[in-house]
Amino acid sequence: MKRIGVLTSGGDAPGMNAAIRAVVRTATYHGIEVYGIERGYKGMMEGAIRPLGPRDVSGIISRGGTILYTARCLEFLERAGREQAAANLEKLGIGGVVVIGGDGSYRGAECLHAEFGIHCIGMPGTIDNDIGGTDYTIGFDTAINTAMQAVDRIRDTAASHDRIFFIEVMGRRSGYVAMISGIAGGAEEILLPEVEISVERLIERLRAGERLGKKSSIIVVAEGCEYGGATGLARMVSEQSEYKDNRVTVIGHLQRGGSPTAFDRVLASRMGVRAVEALLEGETGKMVGISGQNMLLRPIREAWELRTRFDMGLLRVAHVLGV
Ligand code: F6P
Repeated sequence: MKRIGVLTSGGDAPGMNAAIRAVVRTATYHGIEVYGIERGYKGMMEGAIRPLGPRDVSGIISRGGTILYTARCLEFLERAGREQAAANLEKLGIGGVVVIGGDGSYRGAECLHAEFGIHCIGMPGTIDNDIGGTDYTIGFDTAINTAMQAVDRIRDTAASHDRIFFIEVMGRRSGYVAMISGIAGGAEEILLPEVEISVERLIERLRAGERLGKKSSIIVVAEGCEYGGATGLARMVSEQSEYKDNRVTVIGHLQRGGSPTAFDRVLASRMGVRAVEALLEGETGKMVGISGQNMLLRPIREAWELRTRFDMGLLRVAHVLGV
């Protein structure tokens, strides 16, 4: 293989640039050319593909977002779209692609590999940490630190006014961002899509906290929670209890931006080296993951077939410390 492509797809995540840099520099190290594919599969279909050299990725390790831009591309779900994309790669002599993104991006990679024999390796890039086959995804650590800082700031004002705050964090159908940022921010309650809790029970717990001397409370709510996220939940609590003067903060896309943490930069760098070397070893249809301290290559299908194992022990830690 003499030439490979790299793309970012789906929601951007801090550390994607560090991942692109790692792919380009590893390829250069091994004497391989790299082409950057803009806006994920959309650019692959439209031929928005340009050479990327080692100096093109200078200084991007510390930048959030993605210099290759990103998109969610519905046309790629059609066979005709994929044929066009594969033809564009073939025209440029691109024999392998590193796909940086979430499970939707991996499904595209699986098709390119299965239908057109294009070698594909996935790197998990999403703030949600919802990909099977890896302990961590690139961007998660930065996002939880951003969310934690938001919780810290809200606590200042919540404590000053003796108020209850509902803080909504991202994560799609996963409660990982909520769980970790909630524990790190010392939240009184953490509501997750993975665990049901009735509004009555939540109100009881708030009352129990008050009896133990709490004057304010922070409730971190995962966006994928029932009751319509933090806004719906706050309204129900206000309708069904004496806690009427509550406030809601939706952190939203703030969690997706910003300079990546050291953890995300190093994770992206290690995964980028492994992804390119996997292509050079002739691997395809695989994703790079981390388990403990080790880099792994797993079948790409595990990304969506194995849900990330949610550690219920973490929820207990939150409950015990929320007294
Ligand atoms: O998958 C990353 C993510 O930020 C999710 O946490 C969130 O549900 C979704 O993307 C938001 O998507 P968009 O940027 O299209 O609004």
